[in-house]
Order: sequence, then C-alpha cells, then structure tokens
Amino acid sequence: MTALTLSTAAAPGLRADAIVIGVAKGSNGPSVAPGAEAVDKAYDGRLAGVLETLGASGAEGEVTKLPAPSGFKAPVVVAVGLGAEPDKDAGFDGEALRRAAGAAARALAGAKKAAFALPLAEAADAGAVAEGVLLGAYAFDAYKESAKETKGAKGAKGAKGAKGNGKAPLAEAALLGGKPRDKAYKAAIERAAAVSEELNRARDLVNTPPNDLDPEAFAAVAQTAAKEHGIKVQVLDEKALTKGGYGGILGVGAGSASGPRLVKLSYTSPKAKKSLAFVGKGITYDSGGISLKPAGHNETMKCDMAGAAAVFAAVVAAARLGLEVNVTGWLALAENMPSGSATRPGDVLRMYSGKTVEVLNTDAEGRLVLADALWAASQEKPDAIIDVATLTGAMMLALGSRTYGVMANDDAFRSAVYEAAEEVGEPAWPMPMPEHLRKGLDSATADMANMGERMGGGLVAGLFLREFVGEGIAWAHLDIAGPAFNEGAPFGYTPKGGTGTAVRTLVRVAELAAAGELG
Ligand code: BES
Ligand code: MN
Ligand code: ZN
Repeated sequence: MTALTLSTAAAPGLRADAIVIGVAKGSNGPSVAPGAEAVDKAYDGRLAGVLETLGASGAEGEVTKLPAPSGFKAPVVVAVGLGAEPDKDAGFDGEALRRAAGAAARALAGAKKAAFALPLAEAADAGAVAEGVLLGAYAFDAYKESAKETKGAKGAKGAKGAKGNGKAPLAEAALLGGKPRDKAYKAAIERAAAVSEELNRARDLVNTPPNDLDPEAFAAVAQTAAKEHGIKVQVLDEKALTKGGYGGILGVGAGSASGPRLVKLSYTSPKAKKSLAFVGKGITYDSGGISLKPAGHNETMKCDMAGAAAVFAAVVAAARLGLEVNVTGWLALAENMPSGSATRPGDVLRMYSGKTVEVLNTDAEGRLVLADALWAASQEKPDAIIDVATLTGAMMLALGSRTYGVMANDDAFRSAVYEAAEEVGEPAWPMPMPEHLRKGLDSATADMANMGERMGGGLVAGLFLREFVGEGIAWAHLDIAGPAFNEGAPFGYTPKGGTGTAVRTLVRVAELAAAGELG
C-alpha cells in the first residue's frame, strides 16, 4: 500500500513527482483551495485564471495537470476538483476531500511520490485525505503478468510504472499542512491507515477469482489474519456444521465440490462495555444453483462474498485500533453451485434455529446462510447485530449501484447505522419492512419459504432474515448488492471491481459503541 506521511515541508522545496492542490467551483469560475497558497504565489497569484484557461471548473473529480512554476523541485502540479466552494467560514466536507484525494491518487498511478497540499482545517480532514489517497491508489494486479514482472524486478514499492495495461499504484504520499506533532492529526492518520489497509484487503478478497477463493481458502485467510492481530478464531467445517445442525449453510453448499464454512472471529477488549456481532454473506461464487442464473448475470458473482469480506475487514480494523468494544464477526461461507448433490427447488432445509425452510429458488441462497449465522450470533446475546450482504437484485433496482439499503427491527438502531454511513461517506438509505409482505413467505409444506413476492424483493429478504434474529436484540441489515462491486469506471476513491463498501460504516458503529454513543 501507498506509504503515507504528514510533512511540514514547504511546497517549493519538496522533492516529488507532483504536487496536488485543490480547486473548488466558485461563483465566478474556479477558485484555488486553501493549502495551495505557496503554489498560487509562485504563479504570481494567477493560478485560478490559469486553471480556468486550461478548462478547469473545480467540478468534483476533475483533474488538471500543469507544469509546476519555476523554482519548484516537483515538476508537475495536479489540480483536483473539490466541487462547490463551501460557505464562508465552513470548511470542505470530509467526503469532498476524500474523493478529490482519491481522484488525484488515481491520476498519479505510476508515480513514485506525490505531495498533497489540500485544505486541512482540522485533524479529521487529514484523516479524510489520507483515506482518499490510500483507497484511491488501490490497484488489483495480482493476476497481471506485466505487474508481476515489474514487482519482481524492482520490488512492489519502487515499481515505477508497470508495463502493459496496469500501472503500479502511487508509492508514496506526503500530506502537507498537517501537524505531525499534533496527537489528533497523528491519530487520524493512523486510523485512516488501519481502516484503509483492511478495506483494501477486503477489495482484494472480492476481486480474487472464485477458483482461487473458495470457502476453505477464505477461512484460511481469516485464520492467518486473526492470529496476527490477536483475534480468536473458530472455523466450523462441513463435519462441524453437520454436527451442529446448520442446515441453511449446508444446504447452500451442498452442490459444490468446495465445502462450506462458518468462521467466527472474536475480538475482545478488556474495557468493553458493549458487544456487537457483525454477520457477513460469504457466497464465494453464486451461480444460482439448480435455479441457475442465465449468462449475463453470473460473470461478477465472485462478488457475492463482499459482505463477509467487509465484516472480516471491520473486525480486524477494530482490533488494530484497539477499540473498547467486543466485536464478533461471523462469516457464512459457501459456494452456490448446481450438481447432483445440490439442493433442489422443493427441498426443505432444517435451519440452525430449528425452523424449516422450503427452498423454492436456490438462487435465494444468501438468506439461507445468513439465517444460520444470525441465529448463531444471537445465541451470544450481543447488544446489536448488523448483517452485510449482496442480497438482492431488487435492492439495486430500488437504489441504484452506489447506495446500499438499511433495514432494521428497531427504528433508532436503523437511524444510528444510517447516520454512521453518512458520516463516513458511504451512500446508504433506510428501507421499510412492510408487514404485509411477510405472508408471501408462507410455505404450504414448511415453516417458511425462501422466496416471496417479487415486488419489494429486497424488503422480503429482510423480512426473512428478521425471523432468525434472537428476541430483543437490535438488528440491522445492509443490502450492499449495488455498491459492493463497481462495474463502471473508477470514480473518486472507488476503483473498478470490489469497493469495500460497508467496512467504514461497521468500523464507525464499533467506535460509537465503544464511546457509549450507540444508544
Ligand atoms: N447474489 C444475488 C444478488 C445480487 C444480484 C448481488 C446482483 C449482486 C448483484 C442473490 O443471491 C440473488 O440471486 N438474489 C435473487 C433472489 C431471488 C431469487 C428471490 C435476486 O435478487 O434475483
Ligand atoms: Mn443468488
Ligand atoms: Zn447471492
């Protein structure tokens, strides 16, 4: 990952490939953002005019490169759009800084070192810029021969620009205008580094092809990381799942040559007053099973374990940050495949909770693995449970590809989770759980069916899950089917492919719980 430091160096004397400055959209054209005073001065105070002539407006995500003024050690200035200029006396929004830093970091792929002279009014701004840089610089090149050659020859850090289509990520970033001696600034940078590093690891897991990441391999990754960070880990394999009666997870995994797993990660703090459980859908590949998905709907289904990846990353981040809260992560891992041993539409599964479920559609598999994990999590009576899942295409139809839906059995908890998402810059939206949709899940044969009405399919899935949450436990369900995987062009700090969505919401919720601010 990109190495990041806070620096007190002055922009002109700084040795780097580029200096990044911010440009905002003012009422009379682009305006140079605070932090770039020295650069503007070297252009005789005419930088805004120069940028306007070059076509810059200050719009979000816009990148304008220009030669640095004479006397500067860095050869290039990269002006990145911050969007609308904030009101007088108000600073730039954290998310605007994060996105701008991310866009700049992406534009600097292949460079060795860049200095970021973006507006830092407070420690939180340094944290936002750091996150933007570290998340924006991300690249997944493990399967690119060209990238491998470069890394092999020069080492990942010194890679100066790989051949082929992939460029090495920006190797080093210095944030100017921060206060390296200020505790709050240091803490903000350290937090950003821990969260971004784990989030990028979640992206790696999502991007890893399903032939290399089956449930067993995912569990092994979790075991290694848990050991490294002092997290207790327990893996239930097929034998243990059978013994325990986890019919949902076993039923979904039945068609695959790679058996299912339930991974439990326990991070505990001696000072914890609250305990949280995070539950992740971990379908390492969703073919649909016997209710096979048609071509055009299965090419990206390696992303169906993004919920489990987010939960895993959040638990490790909580441990790295030493948060004073207990966090248990449950990864419900299975591969949904058709075969002679696969669950059929019409089969009835006996779930871990004891309920029976008639499987009407084997492509509605996420709720089956989650049901067992939610019930398992409930047995420990945590203060709250959050599950994260690429659960329904219906949620994408409702909210588009960048916003996840939040459902809950408790209005206050849903609001708290939604506000945490807002705070960290993860687009989310509260969704209802209309009671009338519940009867659609009735089964003639079993206690419930795994499919109900098509209309409001995302909400129906939420209603299904609700039945597997223990009495009296606050629970929220994040349906991340849209934002988990970016099929479009990169934007801000979001790359193509796995995005790591929900990691930052979960970490924020854990921080709030640790601070006693989660109700
Ligand atoms: N993994 C899919 C949902 C999904 C779709 C995630 C697109 C990401 C992108 C899930 O397992 C699924 O297939 N859901 C079905 C449920 C239906 C059969 C009730 C769906 O949404 O069509
Ligand atoms: Mn499915
Ligand atoms: Zn699925």
